[in-house]
Amino acid sequence: MHEHRSHPVPAEWAARALINAERYAQMYAQSVADPDSFWAKEMHRLDWMRVPTQIKDTSFAADDFRIKWFADGTLNLAANCLDRHLDTLGDEVAILWEPDHPDTPSRTVTYRELHEATCRFTNLLKAKGVKRGDRVTIYLPMVPEAAVAMLACARIGAVHSIVFAGFSPDALAGRIADCASTVVITADEGLRGGKKVPLKANVDAACAKVRVDTVIMLRHTGADVPFVEGRDVDWATAIAAQSADCAAEEMGAEDPLFILYTSGSTGKPKGVLHTTGGYGVWASMTHQYTFDYQPNPDGSRPVYWCAADIGWVTGHSYVVYGPLMNGGITLMFEGVPNYPDFSRFWQVVDKYQVEIFYAAPTALRALMREGDEWVTRTSRKSLRLLGSVGEPINPEAWEWYYNVVGGGRCPIADTWWQTETGGHMITPLAGAHALKPGSASFPLFGVQPQLVDPANGHVLEGATEGALVITDSWPGQMRTVYGDHARFIQTYFTQYPGKYFTGDGCRRDEDGYYWITGRIDDVINVSGHRMGTAEIESALVEHDKVAEAAVVGMPHDIKGQGIYAYVTTMDGVEDTDDLRRELIAWVRKEIGPIATPDVLQFAPSLPKTRSGKIMRRILRKIAENDVGNLGDISTLADPSVVDDLLKNSPHAK
Ligand code: PRX
Repeated sequence: MHEHRSHPVPAEWAARALINAERYAQMYAQSVADPDSFWAKEMHRLDWMRVPTQIKDTSFAADDFRIKWFADGTLNLAANCLDRHLDTLGDEVAILWEPDHPDTPSRTVTYRELHEATCRFTNLLKAKGVKRGDRVTIYLPMVPEAAVAMLACARIGAVHSIVFAGFSPDALAGRIADCASTVVITADEGLRGGKKVPLKANVDAACAKVRVDTVIMLRHTGADVPFVEGRDVDWATAIAAQSADCAAEEMGAEDPLFILYTSGSTGKPKGVLHTTGGYGVWASMTHQYTFDYQPNPDGSRPVYWCAADIGWVTGHSYVVYGPLMNGGITLMFEGVPNYPDFSRFWQVVDKYQVEIFYAAPTALRALMREGDEWVTRTSRKSLRLLGSVGEPINPEAWEWYYNVVGGGRCPIADTWWQTETGGHMITPLAGAHALKPGSASFPLFGVQPQLVDPANGHVLEGATEGALVITDSWPGQMRTVYGDHARFIQTYFTQYPGKYFTGDGCRRDEDGYYWITGRIDDVINVSGHRMGTAEIESALVEHDKVAEAAVVGMPHDIKGQGIYAYVTTMDGVEDTDDLRRELIAWVRKEIGPIATPDVLQFAPSLPKTRSGKIMRRILRKIAENDVGNLGDISTLADPSVVDDLLKNSPHAK
């Protein structure tokens, strides 16, 4: 567990990086001691319509709670991603698009083309009655039009809510209903690893449950899909009729930019709301510093590839907003790492001469298992910097990434952050920090992490381990849970009053490096995707043969964590293997393939306290097969339940 290897900062990085050790120390100190002056400078990375005079206006105190950044400033983020680059980069590449299959033609989109497509699409949204403040749901595959749809919303001041294209019609309907968006943007089908994803059919199914007035559909695979007259709009035909002229709305810094649903420890997924100015500054700054995004010595711009889907926050901040605000080249990949074969990622790296590559540990672990040959047969000489995101990266996967993929030449930025934080929070900077495999290392500017004792909230100093909280606001912080501000406060600010609670556990070593140990709440991280155990439980109990369910995480070699479900069936129902398969398929259909339970154990009863609370600690131990030490079970209403669970656990067989 305790990793002692360390890789010093390469000399060429220390010499050339935007941030070296000295600059980091100086900037970090200033960002904490005098945030107003620090951010009054950093904010100029964006073009403002009205330059803010108010910088930081925040307090986490219960009786004085407010999070406002750059509050009197106005700007438009689509204009920051597009218009302001037209003079200098108009005919240069904004997006490189690589399709699912290597034989399908790829695409290149310049800043001017992206600007024009966005303006036309914005005019289409306006023609459909979309106004500033309206919510628009986006359910698209990884195609450049996804960026167009996002930026068109931003241009008009509409709030986009992207739903990952792997979610089920039910999950989509729930998210459409929660933010009452009456416009949905989708495609006929998506393509992933050669498989078709029936996006339009899913939207049609969702529309049967919630009110949607307009569905704008991109023809992507050309599949023959139903078209509802009066509601459905064909993307290409409709934008051809629109003008390419469209002014960007002047938005307040604190006006909403997007909603993104994410899972918490209780209840339904919550709509994390990000606003315009603070998020913009944060996404731009973190993209630039973490990835050292600056022109190469020959003046060319580095090709940068974040392999995340736009359905997750990583895709928002680091496929679209961050790189485009910074005038970068962002590669968008429609496919998956193992199709047509396990070399796909590295072939794409070679094809485009990618210099900066950013992916999730789960993909790396899956590729690592297939052997080095898939990697070593490619060149990868263009790579300079690697990034990791979404879950803890175990030292073995780290070393493989570093040595095999990066040839021992490329530093790794292990970026810890969350949907809620808008962008990177804790990460090593290649020019500033020696790397320790598996450590997210040090906080970025303005981020003040603290470790507290989960039992009593006492602040822990020095080398220690505890719950990770952030003591003060940073510009990219979420502002509220859409439609439920009380839930925002309750979820993040009540556990440790006056502090933002991340839900993560963390260790700090003797050198001050932070090591994220994983969630300490009822959230599990499956392949870098966040799942609330409560969500899976409620999907299970919706099945008419299920009386009760409890879901916990279990260790999984590739996914990081797998899903372990305990199910109590209704009286008179027989617990058969067929039923087990049926229930697993049910969850998959209700939520989406990412929620598929890895293990489903029938449990005639669940371990409960006398007050009826399920003792998840015991369920976790059994799922982890760590049954030597179940802890105190004397407070259970019926301790014999545990024997039964142990006997029927798949580990016992
Ligand atoms: O547990 C942490 C884990 O992912 C959670 C956030 O998930 P989500 O909001 O879906 O955002 C994923 C993309 C940022 C965190 O609470 N996590 C994220 N990055 C890391 C991580 N755990 C360890 N190391 C990381 N680098």
